[in-house]
Amino acid sequence: MATHHARLWARWALCARGPGRVQRPGPRRFCCSGTAAADVRREEQAPGGAETGPADLTARKSFSEVQEGRREQAQRSVLIHCPSKVSEKKLLKYLSQHGPINNHFFYESFVDEQLNTLWKALQLTEENVRLRYLTCSLIEDVAAAYFPACTVRPFGSSVNTFGKLGCDLDMFLDLDEIGKRNVSKTSGSFLMEFQVKNVPSERIATQKILSVIGECLDHFGPGCVGVQKILNARCPLVRFSHQASGFQCDLTTNNRIALKSSELLYLYGSLDSRVRALVFAVRCWARAHALTSSIPGAWVTNFALTVMVIFFLQRRSPPVLPTLDSLKALADAEDRCVIEGNNCTFVQHLNKIQPSGNTETLESLLTEFFEYFGNFAFNKNSINIRQGREQNKPDSSPLHIQNPFETSLNISKNVSQSQLQKFVDLARESAWLLQQDEASTPAARPWGLAALLLPSGAEGGSLPRKQRKRPASERIRSLLESIKDNSPENVAGASGKRTSTHA
Ligand code: UTP
Ligand code: MG
Repeated sequence: MATHHARLWARWALCARGPGRVQRPGPRRFCCSGTAAADVRREEQAPGGAETGPADLTARKSFSEVQEGRREQAQRSVLIHCPSKVSEKKLLKYLSQHGPINNHFFYESFVDEQLNTLWKALQLTEENVRLRYLTCSLIEDVAAAYFPACTVRPFGSSVNTFGKLGCDLDMFLDLDEIGKRNVSKTSGSFLMEFQVKNVPSERIATQKILSVIGECLDHFGPGCVGVQKILNARCPLVRFSHQASGFQCDLTTNNRIALKSSELLYLYGSLDSRVRALVFAVRCWARAHALTSSIPGAWVTNFALTVMVIFFLQRRSPPVLPTLDSLKALADAEDRCVIEGNNCTFVQHLNKIQPSGNTETLESLLTEFFEYFGNFAFNKNSINIRQGREQNKPDSSPLHIQNPFETSLNISKNVSQSQLQKFVDLARESAWLLQQDEASTPAARPWGLAALLLPSGAEGGSLPRKQRKRPASERIRSLLESIKDNSPENVAGASGKRTSTHA
């Protein structure tokens, strides 16, 4: 658990009122009804999921509506000065005498602020997401020359809400819809049907389809350069750069399960506002320390890291996220989904899932994430988000993370022992760094998230270690600068963490 700093401020919701005229309140009292909690929750959760701070309040509202909303919110809030010796838990317990306040209480530390800043600065923008769909549509036009009425869909981090600006564009050439949309063309009283030739296996069919599309993109695809056909991979693909959009694209087919796992990640990201910020922090941390790379190799992938974060959040008490089995138990007939014999069923509607009762801060969760995996028994246990508990490893791979839908597969089979060890060492070091009291950190040195994202051994970095050349991306570096500018010394009136609620 990170050390608490000198002062702690709380802005705490009183009772939520209807959207009527703002009235001068009488003395502010602690009164929180169940209805009020539900109202608060609705306001916190933006359309599409998580609470994203100020943008939520301003989304689709006029200036005067925003001003009105802000004023009303301010009148439902109080500021609590909490001495540094009082823990967050004790404060919550004390305030709970006045009613069930957990849903109203939002404890925010400077590290939380840094985590949210990082996420908001690096997440895909609306324009970027639109450009991704447009690029798919352009590739669909090319593929339609061979497969009329085919569909090209984005999947992976472009759509699962964990995408960072600059991430690749994973595309899925969907031929299954062709039959369903009935492409048979009638001409007078004659019926024309497309016939598919028999091929020895589905894999060979996939390779042939991608081969021909790869050729077509290479010779005629507008703006498609550097086309590579990687047909012998476990999941055959065509890789190319799309010049107009600037995206690095991976086109696959017969990969419907990956689309379903993108949907699952989207659901997890939407369930709790802390999930995305945490996943972003871990992804950026891993990239800054060269634990991940854009080149395939023996390192952990962003997808595997995301599953690790989800697993960790299922292990909290109370859990932040439900297990996949419990999401399956909530499913009804319309959610049923079986792909190639794999049961991929889970509830699709967010409102059928109970919100978590866990109130841990992002800072605490990040520290605990590093503690947890810094001490995880990777030698005997496997990570499994279906059941949300460790299981005996079925094989000797250094890192075993069960594929959520193809449960016999290990999504981190490629990770070597030395890469895993590097991950464990850095996780321990980062847990240690986060536990350092800001007050004990020399003023010139970055702290909190900034310290985590610097290469080990760099100025202000970490435990004394042999200096290694590990350049963080330019974007992370510039973000670090802005994070440093937000250091507590620059914030008037507060020298430590802040606690606030959004009413
Ligand atoms: P990527 O490796 O491109 O991951 O796989 P990503 O989530 O898009 O992350 P970045 O930003 O590119 O690094 C794309 C998708 O393929 C599925 C997952 O849905 C993943 O999001 N996938 C990947 C699997 O189902 N199994 C795997 O072993 C790898
Ligand atoms: Mg990707």
